[in-house]
Amino acid sequence: MQYGVITITDVDATDEKATRKLCEKIGPIHNTFFGYFWVFGVNTEEDETDDRQDTAYSNEEIGLHNDGTYFEQTPGIQVFHCLVPAKVGGETILSDGFYAAEKLRQNYPEYFEILSKVPIEHHYLEGMSDRFENASVKLYSRSIAPVITCFNGKIVQVRLNPYDRAPFRTLNFSPNSEKTALETIKFYEAYEKFSQLCNAPEAAIKIALKPGTVIFIDNYRVFHSRTEFQGSRKMCGCYLSRDNFLAKVRPLLKIDEL
Ligand SMILES: [Fe+2]
Repeated sequence: MQYGVITITDVDATDEKATRKLCEKIGPIHNTFFGYFWVFGVNTEEDETDDRQDTAYSNEEIGLHNDGTYFEQTPGIQVFHCLVPAKVGGETILSDGFYAAEKLRQNYPEYFEILSKVPIEHHYLEGMSDRFENASVKLYSRSIAPVITCFNGKIVQVRLNPYDRAPFRTLNFSPNSEKTALETIKFYEAYEKFSQLCNAPEAAIKIALKPGTVIFIDNYRVFHSRTEFQGSRKMCGCYLSRDNFLAKVRPLLKIDEL
């Protein structure tokens, strides 16, 4: 609750079973079309590849983002366990989105206003490239919400995922009007500034996930990224139900922490 990230060490990493059991002990797993519990990565020796159209299933660098911005119900807690680390690269970068959003509010209030007011659309498309040729659409998930969500002035959720941004269809202005153009430019200025603040060294840390250590990330607050890697790498993980987790945690908190 304080940092948005916690680790549990000394977990068996010979396969995914112990991690899955640990997660189920903490709270119900938040199931999605990606599956209940995932084992994923790159196996260069067996040339196994996942056919998911998502950067998580590759070895290229992935910039800061949080997951599931295209779901109506954003996954609350993200769990990763690196069962086999890459020989080179593959480090994880974590960034405190609440910290960056507060910096934005303090130093660029106009941008904060835009990002907490303008709804934007995220989507996940699978099998959509040939949609009009053979209608092989498999999955189309989308959600519309602002980048920063506040309640009574308190930041309660941030969303940053340039990979899953949909075409900008949420501004309610005439497509050819000067006002629309200015609003769009202002939005992207605000989005870029927020991204810069999230990527600033003071907001982010780089860590190497290792076998035996399971990391739990508050997906409403903390963004993650991954550096490029070479060789095989095997991960497992899942999403946990935020509601069920918080229901267990709240009785342990002070009134002002609720
Ligand atoms: Fe991710």
